[in-house]
Amino acid sequence: MPLPILLCFLVVLSISQCVSSYDSHEWIAPTASDVRSPCPGLNTLANHGYLPRSGMNITITDILDAAVAGFNVGPDSIIQAAKFGLLSGDAPTTMNLDALQLHNLIEHDASISRNDFALGDNLHFNETVFTTLANANPGVDFYNATSAGQVMQARLADSLARNVNVTNTLKEFALRVRESALYLSIFGDPLTGVAPKNFVQIFFREERLPIAEGWTRPETPITAESMVPVEVMIIPVAMWAATQQCEPLVIGPTITL
Ligand code: HEM
Ligand SMILES: *[C@@H]1O[C@H](CO)[C@@H](O)[C@H](O)[C@H]1NC(C)=O
Ligand SMILES: *[C@@H]1O[C@H](CO)[C@@H](O)[C@H](O)[C@H]1NC(C)=O
Ligand SMILES: *[C@@H]1O[C@H](CO)[C@@H](O)[C@H](O)[C@H]1NC(C)=O
Ligand SMILES: *[C@@H]1O[C@H](CO)[C@@H](O)[C@H](O)[C@H]1NC(C)=O
Repeated sequence: MPLPILLCFLVVLSISQCVSSYDSHEWIAPTASDVRSPCPGLNTLANHGYLPRSGMNITITDILDAAVAGFNVGPDSIIQAAKFGLLSGDAPTTMNLDALQLHNLIEHDASISRNDFALGDNLHFNETVFTTLANANPGVDFYNATSAGQVMQARLADSLARNVNVTNTLKEFALRVRESALYLSIFGDPLTGVAPKNFVQIFFREERLPIAEGWTRPETPITAESMVPVEVMIIPVAMWAATQQCEPLVIGPTITL
C-alpha cells in the first residue's frame, strides 16, 4: 500500500475508534434483565455505560471511577454511601443496583422522586412524587438551594401526613441534603448551586445526561467541600426537625437491629 493511502487509512481507523469509544457512553435504556436502583445518579451512570449496564456485580471502585468520569463528582462525597451499599447484599465486594432499595440502609422516606417504602414503590421514578420538584421555583427556569430546601420540606410534610411508619432522623436528613446538593452541583454551577430546570428534569425523568440539550460535564470537581456552601444554603430553608432520635440499624439484606 502506498504510504499516503496507508496514512489515510490509519487516520480513518483512529477516528472511527474515537467515535466508537465515545459512543460507548451513549444513553441506552436498560433491558428487561438489567437492574436499576432508587438512585437516579447511579442509574444514569449505568444507562451511559460508566457503570456496567447490567447494574450487577458493581464494586466500590467502579462507582468512584464512574462518578468522576460521568459527573466530575469526586470520591470523598460519595464513598460512605458506596461503602454502605455493600451491606445491601451478601457478596463481599460487589453490589447490585436493585438491592439498594433496601429500606433504611441508604434508601429513605421523603424522597424527591420515589414513594416511601410503606406507601408503595420505593424503587422507580414516580411523576406524582416528582411534581413537587418539577413545579418548584415558579417563574424562573432554574432551581437553586432555596427551591431545593423548599422541596425537601414539602416532601417530608407529605410523608409525615401520609406515612405512619416514616423514618426521619438526622441520618435521612443528611442523605437528603447531600442528594439535593448533588443534583444542583452536577446540572448547575457547583459554586452557586443554580441549575437549569430542563437539565435536572431530564436527569430525574429519563436518567440521562442532557448532553443533547447543552449540558456539559462540570469543569470544577464536585467534592464534599464544594457542596458545603450549597448545603449550608439548603438546610435552613428545609426547616427540618427529627421525628425520631434513632433510626433502624440495617446491616444486611435480612438483618435489621
Ligand atoms: C455518583 C454520584 C451520585 C449522585 C449524583 C446521586 C444522586 C442521588 C439523588 C439526586 C438522589 C435522590 C433521589 C430522590 O430523592 O428521589 C439519590 C438517592 C439515592 N442514592 Fe444516590 N447519588 C450518587 C451516588 C450514590 C452512591 C455511591 C450510592 C450508594 C451505592 C447511592 C445510593 C442512593 C440510594 C440508595 C438512593 C435512594 C434514597 C432515597 O431517595 O430513598 N447514590 N442519589
Ligand atoms: C454476577 O455475579 C454472579 C455471581 O458470581 C454471577 O452468577 C453473574 O453471572 C454475574 N452477573 C453479571 C451480569 O456479571
Ligand atoms: C408499619 O410498621 C409496622 C411494623 O413494622 C407494620 O406492622 C405495619 O404494617 C406498618 N404500617 C404501614 C402502614 O406500613
Ligand atoms: C405514584 O405516587 C402516587 C403518590 O404516592 C401514587 O398514588 C401512585 O400510585 C404512584 N404510581 C405508581 C405507578 O406507583
Ligand atoms: C432562588 O431563586 C429564587 C427565584 O428567583 C430567589 O427568590 C431566591 O432568592 C434564590 N435563592 C438563592 C439562594 O439564590
